[in-house]
Amino acid sequence: MKNILLIGGSYGIGFEIAKLIEKDNNVFIASRTSENIENLNVTHIPYDAATDVLDVSKLPEIIDGLIYCPGSINLRPFKGLKIETFEDDLQINFISLVKVIQTVLPKLIASQQSSIVLFSSVAVSMGMPFHTSVAAAKGAIEGFAKALAAEYAPKIRVNVIAPSLTNTPLADKFLNNETKQQKSAERHPLKRIGQPDDIAQMAHFLISNQSSWVSGQVFHVDGGMSTLLVNG
Ligand SMILES: NC(=O)c1ccc[n+]([C@@H]2O[C@H](COP(=O)([O-])OP(=O)(O)OC[C@H]3O[C@@H](n4cnc5c(N)ncnc54)[C@H](OP(=O)(O)O)[C@@H]3O)[C@@H](O)[C@H]2O)c1
Repeated sequence: MKNILLIGGSYGIGFEIAKLIEKDNNVFIASRTSENIENLNVTHIPYDAATDVLDVSKLPEIIDGLIYCPGSINLRPFKGLKIETFEDDLQINFISLVKVIQTVLPKLIASQQSSIVLFSSVAVSMGMPFHTSVAAAKGAIEGFAKALAAEYAPKIRVNVIAPSLTNTPLADKFLNNETKQQKSAERHPLKRIGQPDDIAQMAHFLISNQSSWVSGQVFHVDGGMSTLLVNG
């Protein structure tokens, strides 16, 4: 059994990952809330990524997988974006994940081969209006992940998933009625919106031994959005 640390597994994509992996792995979920995961076979660690240092006292000596889920979608015209929004987005998406990785690095190194999975966004590979803040923060993750993957190969694999709009609490304001969902589905070449399980399946693969020859990659799980031009 692998020991997997899921930062943010209480709802959204992380919760979907937790449901997929709880039977075959020892799963540790670090998040602010835990009501949703009471029926899962996981250990909860109270943790706010924006402010806290992760309490490692409940964690084992070896961690085989680390998945970092906290993120943000602050969409506004650039001229209306406050510098504090850039700083907050950078903090929750990137700086806090660097801190977590540094905190548990000895445990990741203690594994025969560990796997880190991080989340970017379709808005990094594809320029989209009003996305400057989140695209900058997620772009930092993609560069960081490749450099870290090179530095720690073959001991630690590092990969990134870059989703398009996916039906979770984070994306609720963009998908909270039928019309918004239909419009979003229409914009995607694969003609539907993303579901948490679409993304969770890729994360599951990336922490498993099935992906043991995969590192330094960005996986565009985005309904074809970043690469396909249909009806063009
Ligand atoms: N959904 C999308 O459309 C979409 C698109 C592109 C990229 N992404 C990226 O995919 C990742 C997962 O997104 P999601 O849609 O599943 O997000 P979500 O619905 O907001 O879920 C986020 C998870 O992270 C935890 N979390 C959030 N802030 C935290 C904090 N300060 N400290 C500790 N835990 C925190 C939440 O738990 P607690 O509240 O209990 O702490 C929750 O379990 C994010 O990085 C997001 O940027 C999502």
